Amino acid sequence: MRTSIRRLLASALAIAGLGLSACSVDKNEQIARGGDLARALGCADCHGADFTGHKVSRSDQVAVLYSSNLTRALPLYSDAAFRTVLTTGVRPDGSRLWYMDAAPYAVLSDADLRDLLAFLRTLAPTGPQHPRIKTTPTFEELVRTGEVKPESATLAADLAHPPQPTTPPNERGRYLARAYCAGCHAPSLRGFTPPQPGDPPDLAAVTAYSKEDFRSLISRGQGLEGHDIKDMAEAARKRFSHLPVEDIDAIYDYLTRWALTRSG
Ligand code: HEC
Ligand code: HEC
Repeated sequence: MRTSIRRLLASALAIAGLGLSACSVDKNEQIARGGDLARALGCADCHGADFTGHKVSRSDQVAVLYSSNLTRALPLYSDAAFRTVLTTGVRPDGSRLWYMDAAPYAVLSDADLRDLLAFLRTLAPTGPQHPRIKTTPTFEELVRTGEVKPESATLAADLAHPPQPTTPPNERGRYLARAYCAGCHAPSLRGFTPPQPGDPPDLAAVTAYSKEDFRSLISRGQGLEGHDIKDMAEAARKRFSHLPVEDIDAIYDYLTRWALTRSG
């Protein structure tokens, strides 16, 4: 709550022409906001609550893959290299990420990237350094046939059809939906095609929810009666239970208007 009041004050001051320079923003506030972002953006979900990483491949028949230990990786990254790996899926040494999305992070604002990094830089190195991806001939074959691609190879296509702005514009809601929901519901927010049962649906699904019900979905993982939600409920509890209500409402207002007025 306090965070959003600060944000509001900061923008009001900027509009008034007084301006808050970057260095006058309280560092502790940046770190706190960065910690909230690391949850909402799913970093803690995939890299673990302590950010030390773990095995993400369930069977080793295709590849052995760990999420990186961020407490050990971050000290090796300059600020610029961190932005690059997050927003393009390519490490400074040219190696590419296979599992982690770049599209949701490619849209992040400078301020959010700064705060996220400020938070991650507070993590003391701990736990084991995990190996990089270990591929198998099956994996290599899937890469050859184009069925498996590194994130950097699909990023441009992912970003080519962004969810459109609405009238009246709601850039905050649009921004949050793209950053928080696109990793699972696709960068277009229309779900991945062809949809399989249990897949994250087209976010036009939000129109079935009243504003109140949507708040319960996002902050408590509570679906509408009769709706079988499992992964979404877990995502809500792990990632979104701390979101300020005005952010949840901004996402709702954007998605409902977008769904009702979009073409195609
Ligand atoms: C869907 C799971 C997932 C999410 C969400 C996710 N990561 Fe990752 N991340 C991974 C995996 C798995 C790897 C290992 C490389 C790969 O993807 O092939 C990785 C690699 C990285 C690396 C490269 C480190 C190295 O080994 O050099 C950084 C940095 C990173 N993640 C930071 C983040 C941050 C910050 C967030 C949140 C904004 C985040 N990740 C969200 C799964 C995820
Ligand atoms: C970690 C993946 C993940 C993230 C992140 C995520 N979702 Fe979902 N969502 C799902 C899945 C999977 C489903 C399909 C139902 C199920 O199996 O849980 C779903 C279903 C939904 C539904 C339909 C629920 C119903 O009643 O059938 C809505 C609405 C929704 N998500 C909204 C959102 C919004 C808004 C965001 C971003 C703030 C978001 N989701 C982020 C995975 C995710």
